[in-house]
Amino acid sequence: MADQLYREIILDHYRNPRNKGILDPADFSHEDTNPLCGDEVRIDLRVADGRVETVRFSGRGCAISMAAASVLTEMVEGKTVDEVKAIGRDDLLEELEAPIGPARMKCATLGLKVLKAGLSGAGQGDEDL
Ligand code: FES
Repeated sequence: MADQLYREIILDHYRNPRNKGILDPADFSHEDTNPLCGDEVRIDLRVADGRVETVRFSGRGCAISMAAASVLTEMVEGKTVDEVKAIGRDDLLEELEAPIGPARMKCATLGLKVLKAGLSGAGQGDEDL
């Protein structure tokens, strides 16, 4: 069952990514790479009245990193900036509904790392991921 869910959610988002693209201009924009493999994710946000009005992601990478970034965009749309900042790794993993082993954890959290770095404006998103 877990394997089936893995295929369904990860592969669905990988093949049909949600909110793929670039926002120009954007209120928050950041990109980073997974140093282990060089895969890249960029996330752009437009915020109105403290809420994420529009979000887009772009980049290239493995199925997990791309699917997780796609899932993440669905999680943040419509949320307040503070709510987005409060999203943690476990929240994202829960949405992915797939067992992610230690070797793939940086794949799954690359988009979240980029998002947090973009919102902090610091350009550093490692924090507690
Ligand atoms: Fe590069 Fe997954 S192998 S992010």
